[in-house]
Amino acid sequence: MIPPGATIGVLGGGQLGRMFAMAARRLGYRVHTLAPDDDTPTGQVADREINASYDDLDAIRAFAQGVDVVTFEFENVSAAAAAAAEEHAIVRPNGRALAIAQHRIREKTFLADHGIPVTPFAPIRTDADLPRAAAIVGCPAALKTASFGYDGKGQVLVSAPSDLAAAWASLGRREAILEAFIDLDREISIIGARGVDGGWSHFAPIENAHARHILDVSVAPANVPTATAGLAVDITRSVMDALEYVGILCIEFFVAGDGSLLVNELAPRPHNSGHLTFDACRTSQFEQQLRANCALPLGSPELLQPAAMANLLADVWERGEPNWAAALALPDVKLHLYGKSTPRPGRKMGHLTALAASPAEAKAQVLAAREALTNPHTNPQSAI
Ligand SMILES: Nc1ncnc2c1ncn2[C@@H]1O[C@H](COP(=O)(O)OP(=O)(O)OP(=O)(O)O)[C@@H](O)[C@H]1O
Ligand SMILES: [Mg+2]
Repeated sequence: MIPPGATIGVLGGGQLGRMFAMAARRLGYRVHTLAPDDDTPTGQVADREINASYDDLDAIRAFAQGVDVVTFEFENVSAAAAAAAEEHAIVRPNGRALAIAQHRIREKTFLADHGIPVTPFAPIRTDADLPRAAAIVGCPAALKTASFGYDGKGQVLVSAPSDLAAAWASLGRREAILEAFIDLDREISIIGARGVDGGWSHFAPIENAHARHILDVSVAPANVPTATAGLAVDITRSVMDALEYVGILCIEFFVAGDGSLLVNELAPRPHNSGHLTFDACRTSQFEQQLRANCALPLGSPELLQPAAMANLLADVWERGEPNWAAALALPDVKLHLYGKSTPRPGRKMGHLTALAASPAEAKAQVLAAREALTNPHTNPQSAI
């Protein structure tokens, strides 16, 4: 066991690390973070913030020497960086899990090899792969870079096989994957936690709606048949067991129009859809990450009430400072901001969570709160 008072190292400096650090500090741990930028969302609440590139292996080694366990809030850390950290500290999740989850071809191949349903796919590395991939996958299809994609970046929709070569050129001819475009009924995610002893726990299925390929609203529990939810949970557990995973893993699933379940992707860390667990569950995904990483018993993931979360992207700032008072006037709504000073377009700045008697009511509340943020400031007091 890594007891309270020990130091946790977080690779990455974003909001996932920030909320992890808050949970860890509440339990009396110290937190160090390493990221290329200064004054990061994680750095603002950590005990120590180190500025270094994820490719600076000496900096990673020094960072690992100063902590008891290293975890991630950002998965695009190279295998070499994970190995450098492993020389000096326990690293959770392990480097193999990270290598699989950060590369779409390795990820889908691993899942398919374990008999887990995924979208039909084909790798693209050379020109010769283009016609082969188009024949295997068909159209419409989604062309995605194999690595470094997030929030829909590095993705193009391909409507006809004749468009594929140009689509690949638009991605810089980087290693890519072609996936069948699925007629979606809905999207859900399962967040699982696995301890050092193989102990396991999962949160209620969460239903996710995207806008412009970025997560927009999440609702728990998801409105899916019990059998679908059960299958998604079983898949999550078997993936975590197969990877000998320690920590938090989120699996994004597609529910196709015919009701079948497909894995979209794995996130080897807490997930945006799980932000609602902070307010809505007995133990949040961040505290669960801490418990799993430190070999503490896992906490109860029980959902206390139906809940919804709405992301706050920088657009909310378009007409000036958001009307915080108007949103906070709704008594069941919680506001989370990540301490980012520049609202660049598309940037995730914060989120709102609402708890209510039903998922639909929670969703209505959280959307009303987000709407209220862009209301004119009617009360002169609230504009101050
Ligand atoms: N093959 C597909 N069929 C149908 N919709 C898709 C497909 N691939 C992606 N999408 C849509 O685009 C969204 C983002 O895709 P994906 O999860 O692959 O990208 P990402 O860049 O890793 O995004 P994030 O970081 O938000 O998870 C999906 O959640 C889904 O709404
Ligand atoms: Mg995704």
